[in-house]
Amino acid sequence: MQVGIDKMHFATSHLYVDMAELADARQQAPDKYLIGIGQSQMAVIPPSQDTVTLAANAAYPMLTAEDIAAIDLVVVATESGIDNSKAAAIYVAKLLGLSKRARTIEMKEACYAATAGLQLAADHIRVHPTKKALVIGSDIARYGLNSAGEPTQGGGAVAMLVSADPQILVLNDDSVVLSDDVMDFWRPLYHTEALVDGKYSSNIYIDYFQDVFQAYLKEQSADLADFAALTFHLPYTKMGLKALRSVLPMATTDQQTTLLAHFEHARRFSRQVGNLYTGSLYLGLLSLLVSDPDLKAGDLIGLFSYGSGAEGEFYTGRLQPNYQRGLDLELPQRLARRQRVNVAEYEALFNHQLQWIADDQQLDYQNDPQRFVLTGQVNEQRQ
Ligand code: HMG
Repeated sequence: MQVGIDKMHFATSHLYVDMAELADARQQAPDKYLIGIGQSQMAVIPPSQDTVTLAANAAYPMLTAEDIAAIDLVVVATESGIDNSKAAAIYVAKLLGLSKRARTIEMKEACYAATAGLQLAADHIRVHPTKKALVIGSDIARYGLNSAGEPTQGGGAVAMLVSADPQILVLNDDSVVLSDDVMDFWRPLYHTEALVDGKYSSNIYIDYFQDVFQAYLKEQSADLADFAALTFHLPYTKMGLKALRSVLPMATTDQQTTLLAHFEHARRFSRQVGNLYTGSLYLGLLSLLVSDPDLKAGDLIGLFSYGSGAEGEFYTGRLQPNYQRGLDLELPQRLARRQRVNVAEYEALFNHQLQWIADDQQLDYQNDPQRFVLTGQVNEQRQ
């Protein structure tokens, strides 16, 4: 039996800031952000969105009544949790009208957790093939105003429906995992912004990719030429490009050109949104599949997942004949319709995001066009 990703859908906020404008405001050369970091726009998440509303907004449009009846596992992977006890997945399951018989859990290991959720879901479906599982990576990436990490912020959620005989991608049971205690990026409970050793984290990312990718090639007796495309966790899109370049010496000149061309499609949406943490690898996959005209059924796609702290995984999937039917094909238009805010407006929204909400305080949510919004808090319960 074949198991994998049946549907994918993405949600972010309706607001963004232009990276050339942000570079100007930070006295940086625009090309540092546009080329050196590889980001053109960055999602600005208003206080009316949190990890729960983003996750629900990502999943809602793709679910049919039949999907809703079949889902018996809901995983929300996030490092932007709103509660130390209660799982974001419970709120999400209620917002989506899912069965109360579904298992609902939150998973955490930095940006890696959605991959852990996806593999757990795939194993679950291998045992229960008539069921479906919903896996969502949802986050708001924050490093702080004027910090080196600032141009690598962003936010949003990618929802994936996992089933038997999936429309999009069959997941191969071939993962290679590496995990070890590394202090490259972390966020103690009392911080709303991540702490990061930026250059070190980028080096560890490459080390982890090389380790799991080379081990994969050895274990599977595989070759770089077996892959139609490689996709990467994209904390900023240049990071994925650096990882790809690290294996290009193994490729012929023609293969290099092809892999680099696929990569440009894979980084298209992340370039416009920024880091999603848990969702970033999967936004890259969605971007590749929506944008790239040169893929075909049967193509082997490699996926590199990385979460600081650190955990990496390389695995593969096989593209299915009707993969376009499971995709969020309207996404380019939705991104184009977003509203641009200036740097002062972005800073004000950033400073209000994730602040403690006072009881009975109503948030300014009327201008947020999303289906699910955070309206405020009553008796310390988010509404
Ligand atoms: P920085 O020190 O501001 O940047 O921090 P820089 O001076 O290294 O410049 C960046 C690049 O721009 C360089 O290119 C420059 O040469 C280039 P590179 O050498 O890297 O190829 N540059 C220019 N290019 C064209 N025209 C110009 C120009 N000027 C400079 N005029 C850094 C950059 C990424 C370190 C910082 O933004 C940061 O700390 N970001 C956050 C950490 C991060 O994203 N790490 C990635 C790996 S860890 C990870 O992926 C996990 C994560 O997602 C978290 C999780 O797991 O939960 C982060």
